[in-house]
Amino acid sequence: MKDIIILAIETSCDETSAAVVKNGHEVLSNIIYSQIKIHEKFGGVVPEIASRNHINKISEVVDEAIEKSNLNFSDITAIAVTKGPGLVGALLTGLSYAKGLAFVLNKPLLGINHIEGHIMANYITNKDFTPPYICLVVSGGHTNIILVNDYGKYKVLGKTLDDAVGEAYDKVARGLNLSYPGGPKIDALAQNGDPEYIKFPRVYLEEGSLNFSFSGIKSSVLNHINKTKMKNDSINAEDIAASFQRAVVEVLVNKTIYACEINLINRVAIVGGVSCNSELRRLMSEQCLLKGLQLNIQKNIYCTDNAAMVGASGYFKYINNMFDALSLNALPSLSLDEY
Ligand code: KG4
Ligand code: ZN
Repeated sequence: MKDIIILAIETSCDETSAAVVKNGHEVLSNIIYSQIKIHEKFGGVVPEIASRNHINKISEVVDEAIEKSNLNFSDITAIAVTKGPGLVGALLTGLSYAKGLAFVLNKPLLGINHIEGHIMANYITNKDFTPPYICLVVSGGHTNIILVNDYGKYKVLGKTLDDAVGEAYDKVARGLNLSYPGGPKIDALAQNGDPEYIKFPRVYLEEGSLNFSFSGIKSSVLNHINKTKMKNDSINAEDIAASFQRAVVEVLVNKTIYACEINLINRVAIVGGVSCNSELRRLMSEQCLLKGLQLNIQKNIYCTDNAAMVGASGYFKYINNMFDALSLNALPSLSLDEY
Protein backbone atom coordinates (compact mmCIF):
# COMPACT_ATOMS: atom_id res chain seq x y z
CA MET A 1 0.00 0.00 0.00
CA LYS A 2 1.16 3.51 -0.81
CA ASP A 3 2.20 5.61 2.20
CA ILE A 4 -0.22 8.34 3.18
CA ILE A 5 1.68 11.53 3.98
CA ILE A 6 -0.28 14.31 5.65
CA LEU A 7 0.96 17.89 5.92
CA ALA A 8 -0.83 19.24 9.00
CA ILE A 9 -1.36 22.81 10.22
CA GLU A 10 -2.52 23.92 13.68
CA THR A 11 -3.19 27.58 14.60
CA SER A 12 -6.24 27.43 16.89
CA CYS A 13 -4.70 29.34 19.81
CA ASP A 14 -1.16 30.55 20.51
CA GLU A 15 0.96 27.87 18.84
CA THR A 16 1.81 28.09 15.13
CA SER A 17 2.53 24.49 14.25
CA ALA A 18 3.06 22.37 11.15
CA ALA A 19 3.88 18.67 10.91
CA VAL A 20 4.39 15.92 8.37
CA VAL A 21 2.87 12.61 9.50
CA LYS A 22 3.16 9.26 7.71
CA ASN A 23 0.32 6.70 7.91
CA GLY A 24 -1.26 8.33 10.97
CA HIS A 25 1.40 7.53 13.55
CA GLU A 26 4.90 8.21 12.25
CA VAL A 27 5.87 11.84 12.84
CA LEU A 28 8.44 12.92 10.22
CA SER A 29 8.50 16.49 11.53
CA ASN A 30 6.58 18.56 14.06
CA ILE A 31 7.49 22.24 14.22
CA ILE A 32 5.94 24.31 17.00
CA TYR A 33 6.40 28.04 17.29
CA SER A 34 4.97 29.09 20.65
CA GLN A 35 3.76 32.67 21.20
CA ILE A 36 3.85 32.30 24.99
CA LYS A 37 6.58 34.95 25.41
CA ILE A 38 4.45 37.47 23.48
CA HIS A 39 1.24 36.88 25.49
CA GLU A 40 2.93 36.44 28.88
CA LYS A 41 2.89 40.15 29.71
CA PHE A 42 -0.90 40.33 29.14
CA GLY A 43 -1.59 37.41 31.51
CA GLY A 44 -3.32 35.37 28.78
CA VAL A 45 -3.73 34.98 25.03
CA VAL A 46 -4.78 38.19 23.22
CA PRO A 47 -6.72 36.94 20.15
CA GLU A 48 -5.80 39.78 17.74
CA ILE A 49 -2.10 39.50 18.61
CA ALA A 50 -2.27 35.71 18.19
CA SER A 51 -3.72 36.06 14.67
CA ARG A 52 -1.06 38.57 13.62
CA ASN A 53 1.75 36.36 14.85
CA HIS A 54 0.32 33.30 13.11
CA ILE A 55 0.38 35.34 9.86
CA ASN A 56 4.02 36.29 10.44
CA LYS A 57 5.16 32.73 11.18
CA ILE A 58 2.97 30.31 9.24
CA SER A 59 4.95 30.23 6.02
CA GLU A 60 8.29 29.73 7.82
CA VAL A 61 6.86 26.99 10.08
CA VAL A 62 5.30 25.05 7.17
CA ASP A 63 8.51 25.28 5.09
CA GLU A 64 10.53 24.04 8.06
CA ALA A 65 8.15 21.09 8.59
CA ILE A 66 8.61 20.03 4.96
CA GLU A 67 12.39 20.50 5.13
CA LYS A 68 12.76 18.51 8.38
CA SER A 69 10.65 15.66 6.97
CA ASN A 70 13.19 15.25 4.12
CA LEU A 71 10.29 15.24 1.68
CA ASN A 72 9.00 17.75 -0.88
CA PHE A 73 5.59 19.38 -1.22
CA SER A 74 4.97 17.02 -4.17
CA ASP A 75 5.28 13.98 -1.84
CA ILE A 76 2.31 15.13 0.28
CA THR A 77 -0.91 13.11 -0.07
CA ALA A 78 -3.28 15.62 1.58
CA ILE A 79 -3.36 18.73 3.74
CA ALA A 80 -5.03 18.66 7.16
CA VAL A 81 -5.85 21.81 9.10
CA THR A 82 -7.60 22.62 12.38
CA LYS A 83 -11.03 24.11 11.52
CA GLY A 84 -12.20 24.59 15.15
CA PRO A 85 -12.80 25.04 18.00
CA GLY A 86 -10.50 27.95 18.77
CA LEU A 87 -9.97 31.67 18.25
CA VAL A 88 -11.61 32.64 14.97
CA GLY A 89 -8.82 34.89 13.66
CA ALA A 90 -6.15 32.38 14.64
CA LEU A 91 -8.05 29.50 12.99
CA LEU A 92 -8.60 31.54 9.82
CA THR A 93 -4.86 32.08 9.37
CA GLY A 94 -4.07 28.36 9.30
CA LEU A 95 -7.18 27.56 7.31
CA SER A 96 -6.50 30.17 4.60
CA TYR A 97 -2.90 29.02 4.29
CA ALA A 98 -3.94 25.36 4.06
CA LYS A 99 -6.59 26.14 1.46
CA GLY A 100 -4.06 28.10 -0.60
CA LEU A 101 -1.63 25.17 -0.48
CA ALA A 102 -4.35 22.62 -1.32
CA PHE A 103 -5.36 24.70 -4.34
CA VAL A 104 -1.85 25.34 -5.64
CA LEU A 105 -0.60 21.77 -5.06
CA ASN A 106 -3.93 20.26 -6.15
CA LYS A 107 -4.13 18.09 -3.00
CA PRO A 108 -7.23 17.16 -0.95
CA LEU A 109 -8.12 19.32 2.07
CA LEU A 110 -9.12 17.81 5.43
CA GLY A 111 -10.65 20.04 8.14
CA ILE A 112 -9.87 18.74 11.62
CA ASN A 113 -11.66 19.16 14.94
CA HIS A 114 -9.02 20.29 17.46
CA ILE A 115 -10.48 18.11 20.27
CA GLU A 116 -10.44 15.09 17.98
CA GLY A 117 -6.82 15.99 17.22
CA HIS A 118 -5.97 15.77 20.93
CA ILE A 119 -7.65 12.34 21.06
CA MET A 120 -5.86 11.12 17.91
CA ALA A 121 -2.54 12.00 19.58
CA ASN A 122 -3.08 8.69 21.39
CA TYR A 123 -2.05 6.80 18.25
CA ILE A 124 1.15 8.72 17.56
CA THR A 125 4.12 6.40 17.99
CA ASN A 126 1.77 3.85 19.61
CA LYS A 127 -0.08 1.57 17.20
CA ASP A 128 -0.95 -0.87 19.98
CA PHE A 129 -3.33 1.42 21.82
CA THR A 130 -6.75 0.93 20.23
CA PRO A 131 -10.42 1.79 20.95
CA PRO A 132 -12.60 1.32 22.88
CA TYR A 133 -11.29 3.45 25.72
CA ILE A 134 -12.22 6.32 28.01
CA CYS A 135 -10.37 9.52 27.14
CA LEU A 136 -9.97 12.40 29.56
CA VAL A 137 -9.41 15.57 27.50
CA VAL A 138 -7.93 18.28 29.70
CA SER A 139 -6.66 21.53 28.22
CA GLY A 140 -6.89 25.30 28.54
CA GLY A 141 -10.25 25.31 26.76
CA HIS A 142 -11.71 21.84 27.34
CA THR A 143 -12.46 19.31 30.04
CA ASN A 144 -14.27 16.24 28.75
CA ILE A 145 -14.69 12.57 29.54
CA ILE A 146 -15.19 10.84 26.22
CA LEU A 147 -16.05 7.27 25.36
CA VAL A 148 -14.01 6.49 22.23
CA ASN A 149 -15.96 3.59 20.76
CA ASP A 150 -13.88 3.38 17.60
CA TYR A 151 -11.64 5.60 15.43
CA GLY A 152 -13.74 8.72 14.93
CA LYS A 153 -16.67 7.41 17.01
CA TYR A 154 -17.15 9.47 20.15
CA LYS A 155 -19.66 9.84 22.92
CA VAL A 156 -19.19 12.81 25.24
CA LEU A 157 -19.98 11.46 28.73
CA GLY A 158 -19.02 14.52 30.74
CA LYS A 159 -17.95 18.12 30.32
CA THR A 160 -17.18 21.15 32.44
CA LEU A 161 -20.13 23.33 33.36
CA ASP A 162 -17.91 26.40 33.81
CA ASP A 163 -14.10 26.78 33.67
CA ALA A 164 -11.88 24.30 31.85
CA VAL A 165 -9.34 22.73 34.16
CA GLY A 166 -6.38 24.44 32.42
CA GLU A 167 -8.22 27.75 32.72
CA ALA A 168 -8.63 27.18 36.49
CA TYR A 169 -4.88 26.45 36.73
CA ASP A 170 -4.07 29.63 34.79
CA LYS A 171 -6.38 31.79 36.97
CA VAL A 172 -5.08 30.37 40.26
CA ALA A 173 -1.54 30.92 38.96
CA ARG A 174 -2.34 34.57 38.29
CA GLY A 175 -3.55 34.85 41.91
CA LEU A 176 -0.12 33.58 42.98
CA ASN A 177 1.61 36.12 40.69
CA LEU A 178 2.79 33.43 38.30
CA SER A 179 2.87 34.21 34.58
CA TYR A 180 0.80 32.61 31.80
CA PRO A 181 0.50 29.68 31.23
CA GLY A 182 0.21 28.89 34.93
CA GLY A 183 -0.31 25.12 34.74
CA PRO A 184 3.35 24.09 34.49
CA LYS A 185 4.34 26.69 37.13
CA ILE A 186 1.75 25.44 39.67
CA ASP A 187 2.87 21.89 38.91
CA ALA A 188 6.50 22.83 39.66
CA LEU A 189 5.64 24.77 42.85
CA ALA A 190 3.46 21.91 44.11
CA GLN A 191 6.45 19.55 44.10
CA ASN A 192 7.65 21.17 47.35
CA GLY A 193 4.23 21.79 48.91
CA ASP A 194 1.91 19.92 51.26
CA PRO A 195 -1.17 18.68 49.35
CA GLU A 196 -3.07 18.37 52.66
CA TYR A 197 -2.29 21.96 53.78
CA ILE A 198 -5.82 23.16 52.93
CA LYS A 199 -8.73 20.90 52.05
CA PHE A 200 -10.09 22.80 49.02
CA PRO A 201 -13.55 21.65 47.83
CA ARG A 202 -13.82 18.57 45.61
CA VAL A 203 -16.86 19.20 43.41
CA TYR A 204 -18.56 16.01 42.19
CA LEU A 205 -22.00 17.52 41.36
CA GLU A 206 -25.02 15.19 41.57
CA GLU A 207 -24.46 11.49 42.22
CA GLY A 208 -23.18 9.63 39.16
CA SER A 209 -22.49 12.83 37.19
CA LEU A 210 -19.46 12.82 34.89
CA ASN A 211 -19.62 16.60 34.51
CA PHE A 212 -17.15 18.94 36.16
CA SER A 213 -17.20 22.35 37.81
CA PHE A 214 -13.96 24.15 38.65
CA SER A 215 -15.13 27.71 39.30
CA GLY A 216 -15.85 26.91 42.98
CA ILE A 217 -12.36 25.63 43.76
CA LYS A 218 -10.81 28.47 41.76
CA SER A 219 -12.75 31.07 43.82
CA SER A 220 -11.96 29.22 47.03
CA VAL A 221 -8.21 29.37 46.32
CA LEU A 222 -8.35 33.04 45.27
CA ASN A 223 -10.40 33.90 48.44
CA HIS A 224 -7.83 32.15 50.58
CA ILE A 225 -5.01 34.16 48.93
CA ASN A 226 -6.90 37.47 49.36
CA LYS A 227 -7.79 36.80 53.02
CA THR A 228 -4.17 35.90 53.79
CA LYS A 229 -2.97 39.12 52.10
CA MET A 230 -5.51 41.21 54.07
CA LYS A 231 -4.19 39.78 57.33
CA ASN A 232 -0.66 40.61 56.15
CA ASP A 233 0.26 36.95 56.63
CA SER A 234 2.75 35.31 54.32
CA ILE A 235 1.38 33.21 51.46
CA ASN A 236 2.56 29.61 51.33
CA ALA A 237 2.47 29.42 47.55
CA GLU A 238 3.93 25.91 47.42
CA ASP A 239 1.34 24.49 49.85
CA ILE A 240 -1.53 26.32 48.14
CA ALA A 241 -0.39 25.02 44.72
CA ALA A 242 -0.09 21.44 46.04
CA SER A 243 -3.49 21.57 47.81
CA PHE A 244 -5.26 23.03 44.75
CA GLN A 245 -3.62 20.49 42.46
CA ARG A 246 -4.52 17.54 44.70
CA ALA A 247 -8.19 18.59 44.87
CA VAL A 248 -8.52 19.06 41.10
CA VAL A 249 -6.64 15.90 40.18
CA GLU A 250 -8.60 13.72 42.63
CA VAL A 251 -11.87 14.71 40.95
CA LEU A 252 -10.46 14.20 37.42
CA VAL A 253 -9.11 10.76 38.26
CA ASN A 254 -12.13 9.52 40.25
CA LYS A 255 -14.60 10.54 37.54
CA THR A 256 -12.48 8.98 34.76
CA ILE A 257 -12.19 5.68 36.63
CA TYR A 258 -15.93 5.75 37.38
CA ALA A 259 -16.63 6.27 33.65
CA CYS A 260 -14.59 3.11 32.92
CA GLU A 261 -16.49 1.12 35.54
CA ILE A 262 -20.00 2.04 34.40
CA ASN A 263 -19.14 1.54 30.72
CA LEU A 264 -17.18 -1.69 31.31
CA ILE A 265 -14.08 -0.28 29.62
CA ASN A 266 -10.57 -1.32 30.67
CA ARG A 267 -8.47 1.24 28.81
CA VAL A 268 -7.88 4.90 29.69
CA ALA A 269 -6.08 7.78 27.98
CA ILE A 270 -5.34 11.32 29.09
CA VAL A 271 -4.71 14.02 26.47
CA GLY A 272 -4.46 17.83 26.19
CA GLY A 273 -2.06 20.29 27.83
CA VAL A 274 -3.05 19.45 31.42
CA SER A 275 -2.22 15.77 30.80
CA CYS A 276 1.43 16.89 31.20
CA ASN A 277 0.62 17.43 34.88
CA SER A 278 2.80 15.28 37.13
CA GLU A 279 0.18 14.75 39.87
CA LEU A 280 -2.49 13.77 37.31
CA ARG A 281 -0.08 11.27 35.75
CA ARG A 282 0.93 9.90 39.15
CA LEU A 283 -2.57 9.45 40.60
CA MET A 284 -4.07 8.18 37.32
CA SER A 285 -1.24 5.63 36.95
CA GLU A 286 -1.68 4.53 40.58
CA GLN A 287 -5.47 4.09 40.26
CA CYS A 288 -5.26 2.36 36.85
CA LEU A 289 -2.76 -0.11 38.28
CA LEU A 290 -5.03 -0.73 41.26
CA LYS A 291 -8.10 -1.29 39.06
CA GLY A 292 -6.32 -3.26 36.32
CA LEU A 293 -6.82 -0.61 33.63
CA GLN A 294 -4.38 0.04 30.78
CA LEU A 295 -3.31 3.70 30.67
CA ASN A 296 -2.01 5.57 27.63
CA ILE A 297 -0.08 8.83 28.11
CA GLN A 298 1.74 10.59 25.29
CA LYS A 299 5.00 12.52 25.37
CA ASN A 300 4.48 16.12 26.58
CA ILE A 301 5.06 17.53 23.10
CA TYR A 302 1.96 15.67 21.79
CA CYS A 303 -0.16 16.69 24.82
CA THR A 304 0.04 20.46 24.40
CA ASP A 305 -1.09 21.96 21.08
CA ASN A 306 0.82 20.56 18.10
CA ALA A 307 0.23 19.81 14.43
CA ALA A 308 1.32 16.14 14.63
CA MET A 309 -2.01 15.30 16.32
CA VAL A 310 -3.80 17.11 13.46
CA GLY A 311 -1.81 14.96 11.02
CA ALA A 312 -2.83 11.77 12.85
CA SER A 313 -6.45 12.89 12.66
CA GLY A 314 -6.04 13.80 8.97
CA TYR A 315 -4.92 10.26 8.19
CA PHE A 316 -8.15 8.77 9.58
CA LYS A 317 -10.20 11.36 7.68
CA TYR A 318 -8.29 10.58 4.48
CA ILE A 319 -8.77 6.82 4.61
CA ASN A 320 -12.49 7.41 5.17
CA ASN A 321 -12.70 9.86 2.22
CA MET A 322 -13.89 12.66 4.50
CA PHE A 323 -12.60 15.52 2.35
CA ASP A 324 -13.54 19.17 2.60
CA ALA A 325 -14.23 21.75 -0.09
CA LEU A 326 -12.12 24.89 -0.41
CA SER A 327 -15.15 26.79 0.90
CA LEU A 328 -14.46 25.30 4.39
CA ASN A 329 -14.82 27.99 7.06
CA ALA A 330 -13.43 28.34 10.59
CA LEU A 331 -15.79 26.96 13.28
CA PRO A 332 -14.76 28.64 16.57
CA SER A 333 -17.38 26.83 18.72
CA LEU A 334 -17.18 23.40 17.09
CA SER A 335 -18.02 20.58 19.51
CA LEU A 336 -16.86 16.98 19.33
CA ASP A 337 -20.35 15.80 18.33
CA GLU A 338 -19.92 17.74 15.09
CA TYR A 339 -16.47 16.43 14.30
O1 KG4 B 1 -3.84 21.66 24.99
P1 KG4 B 1 -3.24 23.00 25.28
O2 KG4 B 1 -1.83 23.25 24.83
O3 KG4 B 1 -4.10 24.14 24.64
C1 KG4 B 1 -5.49 24.13 24.57
O4 KG4 B 1 -6.07 23.47 23.68
O5 KG4 B 1 -6.09 24.80 25.48
O6 KG4 B 1 -3.38 23.23 26.86
C2 KG4 B 1 -2.87 24.39 27.48
C3 KG4 B 1 -3.22 24.34 28.95
C4 KG4 B 1 -2.87 25.60 29.72
O7 KG4 B 1 -4.00 25.99 30.50
C5 KG4 B 1 -1.70 25.19 30.60
O8 KG4 B 1 -1.64 25.92 31.83
C6 KG4 B 1 -2.02 23.73 30.83
O9 KG4 B 1 -2.49 23.26 29.58
N1 KG4 B 1 -0.83 22.93 31.25
C7 KG4 B 1 -0.72 22.36 32.48
C8 KG4 B 1 0.57 21.74 32.51
N2 KG4 B 1 1.18 21.95 31.31
C9 KG4 B 1 0.29 22.68 30.55
N3 KG4 B 1 -1.56 22.33 33.51
C10 KG4 B 1 -1.16 21.67 34.62
N4 KG4 B 1 0.06 21.07 34.74
C11 KG4 B 1 0.94 21.08 33.73
N5 KG4 B 1 2.13 20.49 33.86
ZN1 ZN C 1 -5.53 22.07 22.56
